[in-house]
Order: sequence, then structure tokens, then C-alpha cells
Amino acid sequence: MRAYTDRFILTPGPTEIPYRVRLALMKETTNPDLDPEFLEIYNNSRLMLRELLGVRKGSLYIMAGEAMLGLDAALANTIANGTKTLIVGNGVFGEGFADLVKLYGGEPVLVENCEDCWRRSADPAVIERELERHKDVEIVTLVHCDTPSGILNDLEEISKVVKSFGALLIVDAVSSIGGVPINFDSLGIDILIGGSQKALNLPAGLTILAISNDAWDRINRVSYRGFYLNLKLWREMLEEAGVFPYTMSDVLVYALHESLKLIMEEGPDNVYKRHLLARKAVWKAIEVMGLKPYPSSINYSSPTVTAFEVPRGINEAELRKMMWEKYGVMIGGSWGRLQGKVLRIGHMGVQASRIHLLIAITTLARALADLGYRLNVEEAIGALEEEFRD
Ligand SMILES: Cc1ncc(COP(=O)(O)O)c(C=O)c1O
Repeated sequence: MRAYTDRFILTPGPTEIPYRVRLALMKETTNPDLDPEFLEIYNNSRLMLRELLGVRKGSLYIMAGEAMLGLDAALANTIANGTKTLIVGNGVFGEGFADLVKLYGGEPVLVENCEDCWRRSADPAVIERELERHKDVEIVTLVHCDTPSGILNDLEEISKVVKSFGALLIVDAVSSIGGVPINFDSLGIDILIGGSQKALNLPAGLTILAISNDAWDRINRVSYRGFYLNLKLWREMLEEAGVFPYTMSDVLVYALHESLKLIMEEGPDNVYKRHLLARKAVWKAIEVMGLKPYPSSINYSSPTVTAFEVPRGINEAELRKMMWEKYGVMIGGSWGRLQGKVLRIGHMGVQASRIHLLIAITTLARALADLGYRLNVEEAIGALEEEFRD
């Protein structure tokens, strides 16, 4: 086992956890159902999230349970038998929405899931054409940053198209919240899902859910009857009675509060700029190393994660094992159809920094060289540093 002093988690979530967030995780615990101070911290965190995500009109909840809970809740409460749903499938999570829709009795129409589509942002013109063809689509699902391939979809252009057809837009922003600007109200998003273990740099365990008034109309009509995922219960119990449907994880909420304070202190615009710089620097370094980014252009690539192809002749599991065991650095492999073919460096939240990326690139280059891949380690490190120089 690696000593805690000698390891860096540079995967695209879970991530390294900043010192102040770790301190918050160690705060004295309480009974979150009864302690008024806890409710205040919870509500303050919601206010900061509303500001960060531009949620003024709708509702916003922080639920205990990792991000899949949010995805599941969004669909459980909006999909009825036969609900036709357009699935923008240019990635593992994008495509995965189709399975959830089926589970709740909906009828998915999968678009933008061809081999090449996965290497680029979804094309709003294709979505428009498909909505034209399927006039009975009631809901569109979209992933903002599809983490396994590092692709970022264009929320602004896609939401314009979806809104022009009057469909509800559900967006998985699990790995973009806190790293990429999102304006929920002005984009007309109906349900936005966030997670704690990505750019917010917490352990897994919280889901953030923003819900528009149009989404509420649908949720009331669908009237989901389960308990744990029931959004109407959150509204009734939290908004009307100031109590939670089930016991919250107080330490995770303290940590979220601290993480949001860090973002607000730095200023969200500065945070977003730092993520863009990280993306540019990592792209430059991996290209100098002779590696191939998975997205076909940097413009399609998320500011929070860089995916690149496993170089020919290298076994990715062996490379990651070497990076971890010899150098103490963990980077990500990938999932689904990308498993074994793609590697990923997370630059989410605190990872989007010169020092973290220097460690990622240095150890990646060293491990590749150890495995016989010919590359210029110094040049790769120099390219990265150059981007961070003022
Ligand atoms: C885009 C996206 N959505 C959803 C999830 C699911 O989150 P969790 O790891 O909490 O299951 C992830 C996790 O990697 C993700 O990247």
C-alpha cells in the first residue's frame, strides 16, 4: 500500500481532496435531522450552488447518494410508460441514459452514437433533424462532459434546439459542475445533475439536482410512487417543513460547503480559466509526447479531463499499475467500448493546477519510457511548463 505522503489521485473523479475540504470532513459530527446549524450550512450550500449554476427560478437539492442517484431520480420522476426520449449518445454516459429510460418504461431514440460521434461534441443540427423526425419526443437527455471519452457537449446550442421543440432537457453535468460555466435558467435546462467527486473535489456521496418549473409540472403529472428517488417528497418535506426525507451525511455537506467557498473565493471565472489552461497545457504535453488525444479537436475536449489513446504496444493496465506502484500517481483508464483503449488524466478542481499536471505528465512520460515507449520526457515537461508560464 502506498504511504499517504507519496500518492496523487489524478483520475477524473474521484480526485485529490484539497486540505480545507479534508478539514471540513473532520468537523464534529451532529444529528443533521435536528441541528439547526446543519440546516443553515445545507441551505447556504444550496445558495452558493444556485449562484454558481444560475438557478434562480427552479429548485435545487443536495441529496445523499452518489451521482447515479441523481440520474436515476431525474428519470424515475419524469419517464412514464411510452415516454419517447431522445438520447444524445456520444459517450458512455450519454448512451447509458437509454438503459435508464427503458427501465422506467420509456422509449429511447438513440442519436449521435456512431464511432466518430464519440470523438466530437454532439451536432445540434443532427439533434434538430431527429426532433423534426420524431415530433412526439417529450424529453431529451444529454451529458455535458462525457467523462470516459473527455468530450464536452455544447449546452448552449443544444438547449436552443431542444427548447424550440418544447421538449424537456435533462443534463448530466456530473463532471463539469465547478469546472465549466453553466447557466441553468438562461439555457432553459430542466433537470441538471451534479456529483460531488469530480470538480468539487469531495469524496463520492452527494448528488446535486436542479429542477425547473416546467420539470415540476411533468414530475407532478408522472407522479412517481417510490420513496428514495421521489423528488416531490423533497419538495414537500424540505421546502414546506424544513426536514429531510432521510438522514443527510453531515460531513459531506460540510465538505461541499467548504469546496464552494473555495470556488467563490477564487471567483468562478478564474476557476473556469484555470481549467481551460489545464486543458491546453495537457493537450500540448501529450502531443509533444507523440500521443493522440481521443477527441478529434481540443475544442471538443472538456476542460476537466483529457482522454488520449493508449499508444501502440503499450498495455494500459500495466502502464497504470507502473504509474501507481512505482511513481505513486493514479490516472484513469476508461469504460465501455473505450476500455483498454483510452487513458485519462483528470484536471478537475484542484487537479487543474501546474503542480498536479506536472506530476501527471512527468510520471506518465517516465512510465511510458520504462515500458520501452520512445519519447522525449524533458520536452514533454517543458511543453507543459511553457503553457503555465505567464
Ligand atoms: C458524466 C458522469 N455521469 C455520471 C457519473 C456517475 O457517477 P458515480 O461515479 O457517482 O456513479 C459519472 C462518474 O464517472 C460521470 O462521469
